[in-house]
Amino acid sequence: MSRRRDELVMYHVAKVTEDLYVLRVDDRYTKYFEALWEIPEGITYNAYLLKTDEGDVLFDAWKRQFSSHLMEALERVTSPDRLKYVVVHHMEPDHTGSLEDVLRWAPNAKVLGHPLAGRMMNAYPKAKERFKPVKDGEVLEVGGKKLRFVHTPWLHWPETMMTWLEEEGVLLTCDAFGGYGIPLSLFDDQCVKLEEMIREMRKYVVTVIGHYREWIDRNIAKLEKLGIKPNVVAPAHGLIWRKNVDRVFQVYKDVGKSKPKENKVLLVYASMYGTVEKVARGVECELVREGMEVAVYGFNDTSRPYISEILTDASDAEVVVFATPTYEVEAFPFLKFVAQELCWKVGNGKKAVLISSYGWSSAAIEDLKKTLENCGYKSVAEVKYNAIGPTAITDEAVAEIAKKVVDAIKSS
Ligand SMILES: Cc1cc2nc3c(=O)[nH]c(=O)nc-3n(C[C@H](O)[C@H](O)[C@H](O)COP(=O)(O)O)c2cc1C
Repeated sequence: MSRRRDELVMYHVAKVTEDLYVLRVDDRYTKYFEALWEIPEGITYNAYLLKTDEGDVLFDAWKRQFSSHLMEALERVTSPDRLKYVVVHHMEPDHTGSLEDVLRWAPNAKVLGHPLAGRMMNAYPKAKERFKPVKDGEVLEVGGKKLRFVHTPWLHWPETMMTWLEEEGVLLTCDAFGGYGIPLSLFDDQCVKLEEMIREMRKYVVTVIGHYREWIDRNIAKLEKLGIKPNVVAPAHGLIWRKNVDRVFQVYKDVGKSKPKENKVLLVYASMYGTVEKVARGVECELVREGMEVAVYGFNDTSRPYISEILTDASDAEVVVFATPTYEVEAFPFLKFVAQELCWKVGNGKKAVLISSYGWSSAAIEDLKKTLENCGYKSVAEVKYNAIGPTAITDEAVAEIAKKVVDAIKSS
């Protein structure tokens, strides 16, 4: 582990196997991954270096602002003349931002990647010049080590691929099986808050790969068909998995199908002046009384929940409850965005309950319903009520709405 004295950037260089090293940098600065997903917990970029008798192979790189740190890390385990290949699993700049600097540092290194990656390298002149495409299933032998490249389209982009290092028993998976957060340790069998890390992995896959979720099963089936059974799953973000390999594969498959957890309800509401919040809390109370697991997120004048967390809970919820005020003849703006992203990243025909209050003419339910039904959500209950301010709705009315919602969920 190293911490440069001039700035607070921490990076780690450690052995994964006898000849394979992980080079991980901890990015505490990025707060919105891809300028969208809230990650106050940060993220890591993991590159890997394989040492062989015929020269060394680097798999992926780091985001551009950590370029100089990557050179330092590389100098610990290899040298410019020893670096023979750089394998680019995925062209997204969180893995390729420092690629040109690596190639400047190692003037003889060749670049290997999916044929499509070569067509995405216009901003990477050195990489483009030294690029050699690899076929799906192609095996490269370097210094007695076999590198088998497997194209894994849409995990995360069409050019994404993995490398299977059979001798090492290590599958280098790039974005797949990666997670947000800065784990305390490098491996999942060290000092790890496992459930937190699994949630970070779920959050990553829902937000980043969720739109292409049908490709998860296809690519896992492909790996299984090829007889690839890794002892170690080494992604480009977060923990390296070697104790919980079966579990992370299962989690991935479940997220790919947005598999619901029995009795889990996601309740998302917005409330400008407390009217909807009063009803949402009544509904939450009734759901809890019924023994359901409820994940609640409320947008109001003191809090704005993270949409990345809402989507994570949506992915394994059985039912999604939206409660919204009518806002300029539509649903509340943040809830419109949540509904749209739910369709985009989660989908899967879950049950929906729509609750709306209005001041003079209701339109919010129709607005959300149109979005949600378009992507297969089934509306099982709809409740509208007229109220301006929380005192306009009585406790009895709240209890009645809550009962109606819970009855509809139970009987659907
Ligand atoms: C900015 C704003 C826009 C609104 N737009 C509408 C509207 O288009 N149609 C309507 O019937 N009520 C509208 N209302 C009234 C609210 O929907 C209604 O008072 C609701 O109960 C507010 O819930 P809340 O107290 O949880 O924010 C609006 C209220 C505000 C503050």
